[in-house]
Parts: sequence; structure tokens; C-alpha cells
Amino acid sequence: MRLSTRTAAPATLKTGALILPVAADGGLSGPSNAVDRATAGAITACIKSGDLGKAAGATVCLRHTDGIKAERILLVRAHAPDAEFTDLETGLFSAMTALAKTGARDAASFLTAAGHEKFDNATLAHIEVCALRDATYRFDAHKSTRPDAATLDRYALIAEDKSSGAAIKRGTADADAICSGVALSRDLGNTPPNVCTPEWLAGQARALGKDHDAMRVTVLDGARMEKLGMGALMAVARGSRNPPRLMAMQYQGGSKKQKPVVLVGKGVTFDTGGISIKPSAAMDEMKFDMCGAAAVFGVMQAVAALKLKCNVVGVVGAVENMPDGDAYRPGDVLTSLSGKTIEVLNTDAEGRLVLADALTWSARFKPSAIIDIATLTGACVVALGRHASAVMGDDVLCTELVLAGQDSGDRAWQLPLWPDYKKQLDSVVADFSNLGGSPGGAITAGAFLSHFTEDQVWAHLDIAGTAWPHRGRKWASGRPVRLLTRYLQTVAEASRA
Ligand code: BES
Ligand code: MN
Ligand code: ZN
Repeated sequence: MRLSTRTAAPATLKTGALILPVAADGGLSGPSNAVDRATAGAITACIKSGDLGKAAGATVCLRHTDGIKAERILLVRAHAPDAEFTDLETGLFSAMTALAKTGARDAASFLTAAGHEKFDNATLAHIEVCALRDATYRFDAHKSTRPDAATLDRYALIAEDKSSGAAIKRGTADADAICSGVALSRDLGNTPPNVCTPEWLAGQARALGKDHDAMRVTVLDGARMEKLGMGALMAVARGSRNPPRLMAMQYQGGSKKQKPVVLVGKGVTFDTGGISIKPSAAMDEMKFDMCGAAAVFGVMQAVAALKLKCNVVGVVGAVENMPDGDAYRPGDVLTSLSGKTIEVLNTDAEGRLVLADALTWSARFKPSAIIDIATLTGACVVALGRHASAVMGDDVLCTELVLAGQDSGDRAWQLPLWPDYKKQLDSVVADFSNLGGSPGGAITAGAFLSHFTEDQVWAHLDIAGTAWPHRGRKWASGRPVRLLTRYLQTVAEASRA
């Protein structure tokens, strides 16, 4: 679907669907008023009838309205003037879902005219575009028929004047670039695990490198990793017929001298738990255990589309965790790339082993900051539910990430990572174990990772609760692509100043 922005008068606009806001209190803003007058009060009559629901995002569709050029009017109940980002987006998502169910091939929206106490037109347009991209997202590559295919193929955000037009244009372009990353991330996450193997992910990285001149991609195979001494990552990989891959996508948008931000994604393409095997119920969802990696891909795509003026490296450790005659076992002691030894007490705590070596390896890029992203612990879902990703590590970096989450509607919340938690990893045979027990399980996983990021400015994002499901469906959400892209936008702005 193509997006555009322009200025136009609503009554004379030729479009399949003219989208107009109605305020929470029933009031009409400029364009809605103009259309009401042109249609001899069709809008006020509709509101009076009670057909338009009171909840933000409720819609009603009017057809064959005399006095205007549009085929339909889609009235949308607007948000409260002080609505939060997430509520605003949820309302717009309902409205865009209703739009997609009409037969309209194109639409022209005046929704930004509803205004907001805190958000400017750029932000309002941004949220509208994200909601639209979300409502029209499909994952039907593996369906033999597509009854649900979208008919809508053009969407225009219309401004009332030149100055709001410039802001709307900015917000739209920004959101569209970011949503291209979100969609890529969702596609990868949703891809079934018999397709989405480590080597397939490496192919996706190579493809991204081909798409963008500013991106250089390198892929390491198992033999290389073995030779380098990645005993932790390679142990997890051993039980699978699908060989592991470690990849780096280096985006250079800033000067050569500028140190990059390195993003490290957990790419467990399927997590059976290994010898410490998981129960069967909902095990299929462990295809989403590569959503940290998917987020890294999505951010790299967004950053390249935005042409951000900073340097970013995306690192992905891709393995499959399987039980097998040659699989690693509880009790094994592994020597990681860092030289530190790890006693395996549970082969289902595999993500931290993959990340351990990927994090150590990341130091070679001389980063200004390292951020890892992982569906790491069920305990994180218990702690924060599905609304916020957990963030822990360097306090300043954590604060910046929480703020970026707030500003992008992709929320995160900090958990403490005091050294005290490391004691839960004590081992009598190795330097430490991979298991911290159930108290503070999300944090002890972070504490484990902190052993591999000494001397680095580092933060860890646990996305086990946020990577899926999405709006009630067993689909990848594309989180936290928006949070991370927002953060990198602030990094790029700061480096320019
Ligand atoms: N990928 C899982 C974490 C997970 C579980 C994410 C459920 C989302 C939903 C991870 O590899 C895992 O199995 N973690 C264990 C760790 C435990 C053995 C210390 C967990 O959370 O149970
Ligand atoms: Mn696991
Ligand atoms: Zn896992």
C-alpha cells in the first residue's frame, strides 16, 4: 500500500473513503464541519442517531452521501485530547481495521485534525501510520488461498494547511520507514521453524546487505566459531541438524571514527529446551525464540530506510536447541569465548549461552554501547506481563531506553541488576552456572549476561512478554523495533549536535 500526504479540501476530494474525526464529546473539527455543511448535515444526523460508538476508534460508514465527491465517509470517534500514546494507537488500530474491511481501494484521512494536548501533528501522523500498517499487516506467505487479502492500496493523510502539512509529511515518512522494519521483524518471527533455520536467517542478513549500500554483512559458520572458541554457543547448537550461524550487519551512516551501537539478538530458531525438554503444550510458540534476532533485523532495515547518521552493528547468534544423542547435557562444563567456564544446570537456559559468546564477540566492533535483545525468560512475563519489555544493565543507558520506549509507544521498564543477584549462579565446579533458580529469574539471567559485558556500556532487553502474541493473535509484534529505532534516532541527533 502506498502512503502519501497533501493539502486538500474535504468536500471536493475524490476518494474511496473520506476519513473524518468526531471528537469524544461529539464536536466536529474543521474538515468534519465542512463536510457536514456540504452534505446538508449528514454527519450531525448520524451522530444524533447514536450509530457512532463512544469508544475511541469506533467507526460508522456512510455511503452515497450527496454533496461530496467521496464514495464513502468513514466517521471515526477520536481519542480524548489527553490520551496516552498506546491508547491512541489502539483506537486508531480499530478504525484502520474497520477501514480495511470496507471495499475502498483508496482513502483520504483528516484524522490529525482531531488534535491533541501533548502530541504535535508529526506525532499524530506517526501514530496513525503505525496503526494503519499494523491493521493491514498480513502473514499469508504460507496460505494456499488468501481470502483476507487487502483491497486498500492507497492511503493519503490530508492536511488543512501548509504548516501542518509539513509536520504530517515528516511524521508519515518517519513512521513508514520504521514500520518497514517492524513488518520485516514480524515476518521473520512468524516464519515457521522448518523454514526459519539459522542458515535461512543468514540468507536474510545477506539480502538486507544487498538492499542497502551502507550495510556490510558477514556470516560465520560453525567451524569458524568452534575455532574461535565459542564453546557456549556451539554447545547449544550441537543437538541440531541445522548448523549455527553468527552474523554481523554493519551499517555505516556516521563518520568512520564514530563508535557504533551494537545490537545483539538471540536467534534461537526453535527452542525445545534440549535434554531439559519443555512440555508439549504451546511448544510451537518457541518458534518465536528468535524474535530478539528478528528485532535486530527490523532495526537495521529501519535505520537504513531512515538513513540515520550514526553507526550501528546488528549481531545475531542463530542456533536451534534440540535434544539429540550428541546434544549438550545438564552437568556439562563449557568454556566460553571469554575464557570463563559455565556449568550447565539446565539446557533450556540456552539463550544466555548463545548471547554469552555473541556479546564477547561484539567487543571487536569497539562499541559505544551494546544492547542485547532476547526472549530470555518466562520469569520476565511473570514480572511485567505483556505490556513492557524488561531492561537492565547500565543505568544511564537503561533510562535512555525507557524514555525511547515511552516516546515510541513500545514501552520498557527497568529491573535492578545489583551484583547480589550473581550469587544465585554460584557453581562448585565451574566459574558459575547457567541457572539462577526461580526468585528473580529475569534478573539472574541478566546477571549471567553481565559476566560477558565487563568494560562495556551494556543493557539487556528481555522481550519474552512483548515479542508475541499481538493484539490477541499468535503473531509476532515486531517489538522492540520502534523502541530501539527511536533510541538510535536520539543517538544520531546527539552526534550531530
Ligand atoms: N525461550 C525461553 C524463554 C521463554 C519462555 C520466552 C516462554 C517466552 C515464553 C528460554 O530459553 C527458557 O527456556 N528459559 C527458561 C530459563 C530457566 C530454565 C532458567 C525459563 O524461562 O523457564
Ligand atoms: Mn530455553
Ligand atoms: Zn529460549
